[in-house]
Amino acid sequence: MTTANRESLVALDKRYVWHPYTEMQRYIDEVEPLVVARAEGARFFDVNGKSYIDANSSWWVSLLGHRHPRLVQAMRQQSEQLCHVALAGITHEPAARLAEELCRVAPAGLDHVFYSDDGSTSVEVAIKLALQFWHNQGRSERKRFVALDGAFHGDTIGATGLGGVEVFRRPFAGVVLECVHVPSPGDTELDEDEPYRVAFEAMAQLLREQAATIAAVIVEPLLQGAAGMRIYDPRYLSELRSLCDELDVLLIVDEVFTGYGRTGTMWACDQASMAPDILCMAKGFSGGMFPMAATLATTRIFDAFLGDPKRAFYYGHTYCGNPLGAAVAREVLAVYRDEEIIEHAQPKAVKLADCFRKLSKLGGVKRWRGLGMAAAIDLDTDGGYLGRGGWRIYDEALARGAYLRPLGDTVYAAPPLNIPDSDLDELIQIIDASVRAVID
Ligand SMILES: Cc1ncc(COP(=O)(O)O)c(C=O)c1O
Repeated sequence: MTTANRESLVALDKRYVWHPYTEMQRYIDEVEPLVVARAEGARFFDVNGKSYIDANSSWWVSLLGHRHPRLVQAMRQQSEQLCHVALAGITHEPAARLAEELCRVAPAGLDHVFYSDDGSTSVEVAIKLALQFWHNQGRSERKRFVALDGAFHGDTIGATGLGGVEVFRRPFAGVVLECVHVPSPGDTELDEDEPYRVAFEAMAQLLREQAATIAAVIVEPLLQGAAGMRIYDPRYLSELRSLCDELDVLLIVDEVFTGYGRTGTMWACDQASMAPDILCMAKGFSGGMFPMAATLATTRIFDAFLGDPKRAFYYGHTYCGNPLGAAVAREVLAVYRDEEIIEHAQPKAVKLADCFRKLSKLGGVKRWRGLGMAAAIDLDTDGGYLGRGGWRIYDEALARGAYLRPLGDTVYAAPPLNIPDSDLDELIQIIDASVRAVID
């Protein structure tokens, strides 16, 4: 593409496009955006042909890399038969078979699948299922939620209410759902030895006192992504499961980021040998080919919606169960199986963790952590999500050929699970050099 063409695209973009999670004044005045033309595997390419290793799997979605040939083929094949049809009074092979396959790979007891579009809508479904579950049993007073400090469950208004990142929530205070936030087991400011226990006691105390008005607890299992890649002990999850059983509180697990092997197992729940009442999945679900998601629920929940038209779940998004998305999502599961994606990611995860562990020795770094194919460092600054330190490292990485978008002063990598070893080695070199260029 010529320089003039590139510039005219950027001018159009800056004139018309309102970007997500972007301070637009600074973007318009100062940012020279990447103009991406194509992508392949773990890399995308700008209009001048320069390649960038995608260190965040394009917002945690392309876990099988970009344009996996089998996913492209599945989409192409499906598009020759059926692209869209309402899932009301109608079903089709991709939606029906995918539902069965999802229940087979999901934690035990999740036997019913409600389709939606993305992570936020999968959480909206979970919120409404939980509220109506209690309503249908004449227990409408159970309408409050409990979530973790630093939680992120999406940006629709229901999901925003569950969120515990102050800067995302503040403008909507007073409008959003009633949700109590409790200390996160991944908060490193808590007792260093047993942060999960300190946090669990706070959760237990709250639930013991207030279970009668609580609809559900929601957690991101083992790894709170947007909070800055906070990792916590699986014992928190298994103990939370027992507590919710004891007090009859529903437990929602949001595997939108952690699912599909990000933490080293298909579901983060698997590491705690537990199953929630409701599980949200998206992102890796359709491998970056198509926005699609699902919320899985137990038979106990499903049954509470039967028997009377007034008990039915009057909810649904237009693209619910879309055949293209469902065909791709089925192929995603097949690729995980055939290519042993999770097994082959294990040695890659070790390399990634090593890189961040080494960086934690540098003066300007506070701490590191790693779980599965996600690893992070916190810079020794107090900027949090609005900090600029991570962005200086982002610029350095971009110049060297990697897209390393930070969470403020947390620098992290969560590349595709099947990133080729040579790309991973190059990414590790780039991360190391970029961090050292800024803080050494
Ligand atoms: C745990 C979790 N839940 C929900 C969401 C929202 O997903 P989406 O952006 O697809 O709406 C995200 C997005 O990052 C997430 O990390």
